[in-house]
Amino acid sequence: MVDWMEDRTGIVTQLEHFLYEPVPKRGAWLYTLGSATLFLIVLQFLTGILLLFYYVPTTDHAWNSVYYIMNEAYFGQLIRGIHYWSANFLLAVIGLHMARTFFSGSYKAPREWNWITGVILLLLVIGLAFTGYLLRWDQDGFWASVVGIKIGSYSPFIGGYVANFLLGGDVAGPATLARFFAIHVWLLPAALAPFIGIHLYLLRRHGEFGNQFEYTDRLAKLHEQQRLEEYARYELDGEEDGAEEDGRNGEDRENGRYSDRE
Ligand code: HEM
Repeated sequence: MVDWMEDRTGIVTQLEHFLYEPVPKRGAWLYTLGSATLFLIVLQFLTGILLLFYYVPTTDHAWNSVYYIMNEAYFGQLIRGIHYWSANFLLAVIGLHMARTFFSGSYKAPREWNWITGVILLLLVIGLAFTGYLLRWDQDGFWASVVGIKIGSYSPFIGGYVANFLLGGDVAGPATLARFFAIHVWLLPAALAPFIGIHLYLLRRHGEFGNQFEYTDRLAKLHEQQRLEEYARYELDGEEDGAEEDGRNGEDRENGRYSDRE
């Protein structure tokens, strides 16, 4: 079956190409943090979609629908629990992934765009965490969001406008829940997906920082350069010998100036 699928679609080769990426031997486990982040995000997408089967984004039904998910719906508690804990782990793991790429210097050329798209992803994930909290419409989520918006509203220039936009008026109410729902379920996931795509494309383009192929490549270039230099030196040597025979440069050579010029 596998051979047949490979022959007809090339899927096995593609999967191998997609799954295997050489990483440096030293600290190799730290290079799994990006994939761990990706795994948690996929988990968020899946459990989030399942939650939407029962969740109702209106002020009179939101809390009740969450209550129903927790107490009545099949696997509701499990699915909501995974969504909640995975969101918490996601923030921790994305922070660790960022720390790893920072301390290994992976943001340097040619990987600047890996870093820039990473920062955008981080902001989107923080946005998801913030907007998700209000959706349960309990005292915790409600006041945490109100305080968060209030703090944000003190940002210079745009703070007031953004707060107004998020609230959908002057105080938190039905419009706020509708907006947070739209942002949490549609806007941010839709923005996240293409940036993850770009982030992973760039990873494939440049490979992991410090992987053995990167060094192999650099070493090959270095050896080639050394070989050319040696060859040039050899040629120069020949010329110098000729010159010496002419009696012009012999003195330089004896004084060691020849090697200085190299
Ligand atoms: C949704 C969030 C993110 C996902 C799904 C993600 C995914 C990945 C994956 C799978 C890798 C390759 C494996 C690895 O190096 O661990 C990677 C590499 C990388 N990521 Fe992320 N990442 C995310 C967020 C970030 C953030 C917040 C930053 C930094 C601001 C960042 C910067 C980088 C860099 C610079 C690399 C290249 C690493 C190297 O070549 O050594 N990423 N990312």
